[in-house]
Amino acid sequence: MTFKPLDKKDLNPDPTDQFASWFEEATQTKSICLPEAFCLSTTSPKGDPEGRMVLLKGFDSTGFVFYTNAHSAKGCSLKKEPRAALTFYWSELGKQIRIHGKTKRTSVDEADAYFATRPKESQIGAWASLQSEVLESRDILEKRFDEFSKKFEGQVVPRPPHWVGYCLVPHLFEFWQERPNRLHDRFCYQKIASGWTLTRLYP
Ligand SMILES: Cc1cc2nc3c(=O)[nH]c(=O)nc-3n(C[C@H](O)[C@H](O)[C@H](O)COP(=O)(O)O)c2cc1C
Repeated sequence: MTFKPLDKKDLNPDPTDQFASWFEEATQTKSICLPEAFCLSTTSPKGDPEGRMVLLKGFDSTGFVFYTNAHSAKGCSLKKEPRAALTFYWSELGKQIRIHGKTKRTSVDEADAYFATRPKESQIGAWASLQSEVLESRDILEKRFDEFSKKFEGQVVPRPPHWVGYCLVPHLFEFWQERPNRLHDRFCYQKIASGWTLTRLYP
């Protein structure tokens, strides 16, 4: 498959707007089932690199928001080293986006509001899962799910205090467009005091 070239003049001077335009294209592409899925790369407290898929739940000029368990491996990593990287890849479009930045917790109100929109079973799942801890058997997890289902029967499920949002505030974006012969187009935005620089990189 050949894709349209990517030229500097095609790129929005604001990288968040550029992200919005590619994300919209990915969202409109029916064969992409999870356009909002990205690899979240962090550094463990021991200094090891680690990555896993997470879902993007919102973005604007202030940053990119995802939700997880603050007691999970990634939560512990982000507590010690808040710098992280997000990588999106949409093979159908031949597009990759990398975003580097520093994470901070979203407000409690924002996390409460988003948690309230989730299906009740997912809300109960958030209470039942001690994410990233050793689980001796699947039965234990299902038993915990049943116990929390009973506990919250007929009630609004409150957000577990450890179920939190993180907002990555970016200082670098890279937009990568697949091209023939591995001569791909790559552009990098870097934050400076007056805005963003935009440079082409060798593929
Ligand atoms: C497509 C996809 C989306 C996922 N989205 C999330 C998410 O939004 N939040 C989350 O905590 N885990 C999500 N996960 C699970 C994580 O990849 C991971 O297994 C989990 O968060 C534990 O990671 P950790 O032990 O590194 O903290 C997702 C997994 C996949 C495959």
